[in-house]
Amino acid sequence: MKICIQITMAEEAKPFLELLSLKKCEPLKTSIPHNLYHETFEGHEIFLIVNGRFNENISFIGTEFATLISYTAISQLAPNILINAGTAGGKQSSGLKIGDVTIAEKVFFHDHRVSIPGYNEYFKGDFSPNIKYYNPLLSINNLIPAIVSTGNSFEMNSSDEKSILELNSSVKEMELCAIAQVASFHNTPWIGIKSITDIIDISEKPTSDQFFENLNLACTNLSKTLKEIISIL
Ligand code: ADE
Repeated sequence: MKICIQITMAEEAKPFLELLSLKKCEPLKTSIPHNLYHETFEGHEIFLIVNGRFNENISFIGTEFATLISYTAISQLAPNILINAGTAGGKQSSGLKIGDVTIAEKVFFHDHRVSIPGYNEYFKGDFSPNIKYYNPLLSINNLIPAIVSTGNSFEMNSSDEKSILELNSSVKEMELCAIAQVASFHNTPWIGIKSITDIIDISEKPTSDQFFENLNLACTNLSKTLKEIISIL
């Protein structure tokens, strides 16, 4: 099976790249900055696509780039499944802690607001992974099913907070819903795996400080889980 893994930041991708000894290959035909890696593993063809950078240290994060990269990857690689893996903020009140790895059972946009009747129906997102791929992954030890929500701000404002509560989301990140939307248009099955770098509801530390303190741990855990996922697929 051809598996494409989409990761936003080079830091998030590094432990997984090393774990599977993925090799850098020719980028796809697009002007959107990215890096592409490839290797065969347990009979699967694995592609890893990582967003490019604005400068040496700053990755292109958020839904616009997520959409462009997933569209490019699906159109040119035609994977059997697209896995979006990355980091996220998590709610301690939902039992999540730093380093936990979650799998999206549903994903919404938490920062899309339109009061005109009818628009919210598609604008809110609301995508679920294909149970054929999702259900077997629930057998992985310590992989936690969660409702995930996507927005284009790292910091939460009061509207985001209200929306996250209403959606019952316990995991907050910046790409998955956009990627699930692109995958759905192409009928490409998708899976979302998010590792927790920061606590968004109870901690006294700013989420950005927590993010950098916990990035290595979260991404190491993420890479191990991704390897287990590939073994099950
Ligand atoms: N990625 C990691 N932590 C995050 C947060 N709190 N919000 C959005 N994206 C994140």
